[in-house]
Amino acid sequence: MKVFISGTIAPVGLKQLEENNITITQWEENRQITAEELIEACKDQDALVSVGPNKLNAAFLNACSHLKVIALHSVGFDQVDLDTAKKLNIPIGNTPGVLSAATADTAFLLMLAVSRKAFFSHKKIIQGEWKNYEPSPELGIEVNGKTLGIFGLGKIGLEMAKKCAAAYQMDVIYHNRSRNEEAEKEIGAKYVSFEELLAQSDVISVHTALTSETKDKFTLDVFKQMKSNSIFINTARGGIHNEKDLIKALEEKIIWGAGLDVTNPEPMDKNNPLLAMENVAILPHIGSATEETRAAMAQIIVKNVLAGLKGEKLPFEVK
Ligand code: DGY
Repeated sequence: MKVFISGTIAPVGLKQLEENNITITQWEENRQITAEELIEACKDQDALVSVGPNKLNAAFLNACSHLKVIALHSVGFDQVDLDTAKKLNIPIGNTPGVLSAATADTAFLLMLAVSRKAFFSHKKIIQGEWKNYEPSPELGIEVNGKTLGIFGLGKIGLEMAKKCAAAYQMDVIYHNRSRNEEAEKEIGAKYVSFEELLAQSDVISVHTALTSETKDKFTLDVFKQMKSNSIFINTARGGIHNEKDLIKALEEKIIWGAGLDVTNPEPMDKNNPLLAMENVAILPHIGSATEETRAAMAQIIVKNVLAGLKGEKLPFEVK
């Protein structure tokens, strides 16, 4: 059996595939594979491990309907046309659970980095602007005892909420399509309407999937309903906030700061004005990028690929 991997996965995953006599072909160029190249690369393959934002749309799926399984190197699956995959009987696997802690760490890191202007201050050293001790440089704000608003309280949101409650005694409120009663019990999170989430949160952290409902959810009008000293964090998908509106909200001090691990588009242009702002911290989509998490993801991918190749139900299948 043959598998095409459209990027890099942890060595443990490659080893396990080889141990199962799978022939691996891997995309090794230092750029994202194009749609045409992906179709060409999958022509003689039995399975695809999709790494990165390859669009697995109807055009791709129809051209590659021979694939027995597609294993995503992500928990998110917004890049896949699930209806077409279902029609063509191509099972799609993802990697839920194992990346929740690492992704929540990234949200927590961004929250602190923004609140203390850490990236901006670091840049000042590099630019030779650290000349003397300034007791009142650009001051940060503290998050201790403040209110954290989670937009999308699933596994990752819950990890973020736990960290913020434990480290800073933050009150947790959340907004979801439906209530997460388990999380309410576990951390005492309070369900609120979207409008209440905006009005009451000192930090809003986005942990929802990108869907037609959440696409462009955070517009200027929405930022205007947030507190003027609030921080917006997005480690989910860049398409959930409107980037032009976020820039305006920050420039006009409608909100205090923003931390992003996801942008729209990705990669972000190096001249994007957000990168020069004091109260902004941006990372290049590294939410799950730790040795431990990537190894765990690779092992789930192998389980999905092996099950799919045998025509069995995937252990981690996207429905
Ligand atoms: C995920 O797992 O969805 C990460 O954001 C990587 O795309």
